[in-house]
Amino acid sequence: MTGATSGRRGFLKKAVALVVGAIAGIVPALAGLMVLLDPLRHKAAAGSAVKVTTLDALPPDGVPRRFSVVADRTDAWNKYLNVPIGAVYLRRTGADQVEALNVVCPHAGCFVDFNSDGGKFHCPCHNSTFTVDGKIDSPTSPAPRGLDSLQAEVRNGEVWVVFQNFKAGQKEKVPVA
Ligand code: FES
Repeated sequence: MTGATSGRRGFLKKAVALVVGAIAGIVPALAGLMVLLDPLRHKAAAGSAVKVTTLDALPPDGVPRRFSVVADRTDAWNKYLNVPIGAVYLRRTGADQVEALNVVCPHAGCFVDFNSDGGKFHCPCHNSTFTVDGKIDSPTSPAPRGLDSLQAEVRNGEVWVVFQNFKAGQKEKVPVA
């Protein structure tokens, strides 16, 4: 073997080691970046319609009923099938029309109850009250806005809702990313 050949082999070994080392460094760096961006990848069903129940499950008199919202959820590595992502109150507003409200109080995030005797929503945490269509009922309610309405529609006797959470504690309805 000549000196030139062994020199060339030595150079190739170093070049291969450099490339392998670079790849070995990039993979963990990308994994770290994915972890950093992970919250952005928790999109679940936000922005897409989810089947919540059937129209038959809603009383015709317009009294709200509470339902869990169940959907598939994905993160950077896994897909979870049929997990609860929130809850809504649904009520009939017409023969084929429904209204959907997020159950979360916009004051500080507690779950509101519906008082069928008084026909109003009540938050047990700081006593905000809301009318049946989600508007602030009492001027003394600490909630800065009414209950958050959600897009809902009836498709072939099924009730579909575009589920979304919104930031609490502010007057504007700002979606939680
Ligand atoms: S969280 Fe509902 S009134 Fe405060």
